[in-house]
Amino acid sequence: MYRSFGIAAALLTGTALLGGTAWASVASPAKPPRLPRSHFAHTENIAHRAGSGVAPENTIAACARASASGADRCEFDVQQTKDQQLVLIHDETLARTTNVEELFPDRSPWRVSDFTLAEIRRLDAGSWFSPRFRNERVPTLQQALEMLGKGRAGLLLEIKHSPRSPGIDNRVAAELLSNRDLWEGRRLALQSFDRQALRKLHRAVPDVPILLLGADDGQLSDVADYADALVLPHAAQLTAGQVREVKSRGLRVYAATDRPRVQRRLLSFGVDGIMTGVPARLRDVLRY
Ligand code: G3P
Ligand code: CA
Repeated sequence: MYRSFGIAAALLTGTALLGGTAWASVASPAKPPRLPRSHFAHTENIAHRAGSGVAPENTIAACARASASGADRCEFDVQQTKDQQLVLIHDETLARTTNVEELFPDRSPWRVSDFTLAEIRRLDAGSWFSPRFRNERVPTLQQALEMLGKGRAGLLLEIKHSPRSPGIDNRVAAELLSNRDLWEGRRLALQSFDRQALRKLHRAVPDVPILLLGADDGQLSDVADYADALVLPHAAQLTAGQVREVKSRGLRVYAATDRPRVQRRLLSFGVDGIMTGVPARLRDVLRY
């Protein structure tokens, strides 16, 4: 219902199938070959959940820090409020990353879809991470687009689908189309686990690159019709052959990991981008 693969979870699982190939777990190969920095010039450094390792996830403050420490883009999770507004938060509920239980004690289970934007705007979305972020709020999609428009960061927007947020894709498309001046010609991309949603979004905003998440079920025949890239799960088990296989279909390859050793291996395979909660560490890996 509500798809997610946190980085840690992605590292803990075993083999995966893609294109009928059993992707056996790889024994850790010898240290990957050193390649010139220029080889990675195109490799994108993407701050996962806007840079969850150094600031409260999915906040403007996190993205500002991530962009200042080498991230090319901030990845945000998009959800819909009770009054059909678009906000940036990962979990289906507000409990883990805001003080919603304190402000609204009798509204359990505190789902994002059960609160209006005005109510969500009252929440502290930073103190749970550190008191110095107590002024952080749950951002809106509009705020992230305005940040993009000012050239402060690139964006990768993951749309989180749920039966409680009907019509979210139409609202995302409408918000993008009415804010074209903020993103045209800048780094904006969309991602989701939901293929039907991505097909619809590609039709609505064909000039925005699309990444398909979780494509480990072997069904890749028509992906290139609507997606530009795959975000492959199980980063620690990926092999050069698997990356080559996806690229042979004309798709770019992204993966998510915080581990420098896995990042170096992925770079040696020629992945097009890596998502991490600590972009400064990936910047140093890219710099060698
Ligand atoms: O992009 C990979 C990742 O964002 C999907 O999983 O749970 O972190 O949103 P999650
Ligand atoms: Ca995400």
